[in-house]
Amino acid sequence: MNDVAGSRRAVVTGAARGIGAAIADRLAVDGFEVIRLDVLDGEGVLQCDITDADAVRHIADSVGDVDVLVNNAAVWRFAALEDVDPDDFSAVLDINLRGPLLTTQAFGRSMLRRGHGSIVNIVSIGALHANPAVGAYSASKAGLVALTRQTALEWGPRGIRCNAVGPGLIATEGAGLYHDADIRRARAAAVPLRRLGAPSDISEVVAFFASDASAYVSGQVLYVDGGLSSSLMTTLPRPPGIPGPQLAPAAAAQGEHNDA
Ligand SMILES: NC(=O)c1ccc[n+]([C@@H]2O[C@H](COP(=O)([O-])OP(=O)(O)OC[C@H]3O[C@@H](n4cnc5c(N)ncnc54)[C@H](O)[C@@H]3O)[C@@H](O)[C@H]2O)c1
Repeated sequence: MNDVAGSRRAVVTGAARGIGAAIADRLAVDGFEVIRLDVLDGEGVLQCDITDADAVRHIADSVGDVDVLVNNAAVWRFAALEDVDPDDFSAVLDINLRGPLLTTQAFGRSMLRRGHGSIVNIVSIGALHANPAVGAYSASKAGLVALTRQTALEWGPRGIRCNAVGPGLIATEGAGLYHDADIRRARAAAVPLRRLGAPSDISEVVAFFASDASAYVSGQVLYVDGGLSSSLMTTLPRPPGIPGPQLAPAAAAQGEHNDA
């Protein structure tokens, strides 16, 4: 591929479907020439496994200068902690954490040479909050938050910004539990904004981090979750008369007794 004079180029991993496809489409609207990478086939998608260092380097050499890199590709493998297969744990870390390192190194080279660029890592509210039976997923995303800050620190002086976007509950093909209408309804009810997120909710924020509108923002994580990560206190029971979930009757009676 040759450089097109004046055009800006963005690379999006995991862009064959879901949030990655929405990000790629949104950056194209902003005038980027978008290179879509995925292990899946798809129109306009270059096949690339981000855990394959040689393949990533080869594609980076062939696409030319890159202005924006979005590390979006990731996988889930669910298992209760006592049942987590250590090989699965490693495989998830390999894709979700080592993969973004490989792409950052490979596509970051032209950013470093030209002294500008923006890297956006897609993390998760799982990086902040424990979630039952997610295996290595939350650990991989917490690691990616750390890698985001490290990239911002080490490459900031060389003109490169790095930020992260943390989706909440986003209905996509890959997030299979949202294929169930009851789960969708129940989960939407738990979100302060009372709906699940759409891929476009994430792509709009990525477009901001990719653009010069965020020129002085680096090393930040923006959770795009309809307020879900702020809602921990809503789960706590309250005494009668205070709005919110009430104490169960037996517990309330016990409380009255103790107060006397
Ligand atoms: N959907 C949600 O509720 C949600 C919540 C929090 C975070 N996220 C994050 O958002 C991002 C996108 O999620 P999604 O819901 O669109 O998932 P998805 O499964 O629909 O899309 C992920 C894409 O990554 C690709 N991919 C997987 N392994 C790859 C590899 N080794 N090399 C290249 N491509 C690979 C897949 O083929 C797929 O197209 C992920 O980073 C995910 O962790 C999603």
